[in-house]
Amino acid sequence: MIKRNTSLGSNKILPSEITPHSTYLNRRELLRASAAATAVIAFPAQAATLPTQRRAKLKGVIESPLSTSATANSYDAITNYNNFYEFGTGKADPAKNAQDFQTRPWSLSITGEAEQIGTFNLEDFINPHVLEERIYRLRCVEAWSMVVPWVGIPLADVLKRYKPTSNAKYVGFETLNDPEQMPGQRRRILQWPYLEGLTMAEAMHPLTILAVGLYGELLPNQNGAPLRLVVPWKYGFKSIKSIVGIDFSSTQPKTSWNISAPREYGFYANVNPEVNHPRWSQARERPIGEGSFASKVDTLPFNGYADQVADLYNGLNLRRNF
Ligand code: MTE
Repeated sequence: MIKRNTSLGSNKILPSEITPHSTYLNRRELLRASAAATAVIAFPAQAATLPTQRRAKLKGVIESPLSTSATANSYDAITNYNNFYEFGTGKADPAKNAQDFQTRPWSLSITGEAEQIGTFNLEDFINPHVLEERIYRLRCVEAWSMVVPWVGIPLADVLKRYKPTSNAKYVGFETLNDPEQMPGQRRRILQWPYLEGLTMAEAMHPLTILAVGLYGELLPNQNGAPLRLVVPWKYGFKSIKSIVGIDFSSTQPKTSWNISAPREYGFYANVNPEVNHPRWSQARERPIGEGSFASKVDTLPFNGYADQVADLYNGLNLRRNF
């Protein structure tokens, strides 16, 4: 049973930024031409809605024993305070600018060191799996946190189906690149598409999930619909949204924040109160409050999951490999 808090209240909505953009592939047109019609039962199609409207209920969701007992933030807080630079850099921008984002049909490419590579539609990715509710604290690198009742599936269960080879040491992830739909991509805030990566051991860890929903409903666009990664012991920027590509590789994948500021954002990005960001402390965090400004609390090593994940980094200097 999720404990719900009261609403965060209204957020100031910033004007959208409109700038010219260069040429790009219109992925929707490609998809329209190539995608086969799919029967969707447990994982229904989603209509574009306003931020306050709720999404379709997901069926057959079971509660996971891997949830934290922390009280979840309200739906309003989780869906109106977002980082999704493809839709603007302000916290209220994604809720405003992502409403018309088309997340159906959606396909994903599996590439690299695996036996079953190819392009697959989203429903085929998700439907063989049981959906689980996992309540996790998301600790953002900006030193705030919130508690989210995700609905998802263990990433390991998905990846195993594509039979990674023994050369697969890392998994890279890629967000959709579509500046027509994603106004933030018309500006070079980051190198697009947004890229992230994990070691194979991190990707296969039972705590790592692909989320398709929150609060028992389909994922809102601003939170990374239709499919996003959630790695609860790492800073939130590892949790890449709106994934279209998964690549098994023998070498460490490039990641957007590391490309943009290598001295500030490392590949590992494990939550570590002892290693500060060069411009601010990571020792404490501000839980996103519900109507009031919450006071800061201590940040825990690996965001509280040290017992479960510290072994993944045996022998690794976590100060150098931040
Ligand atoms: N994924 C993409 N594609 N683009 C982004 O800008 N921001 C990251 C991460 N995933 C981001 C992204 C950051 S910095 C954080 S803290 C989390 O998404 C925020 O997730 P939330 O908005 O669901 O809380």
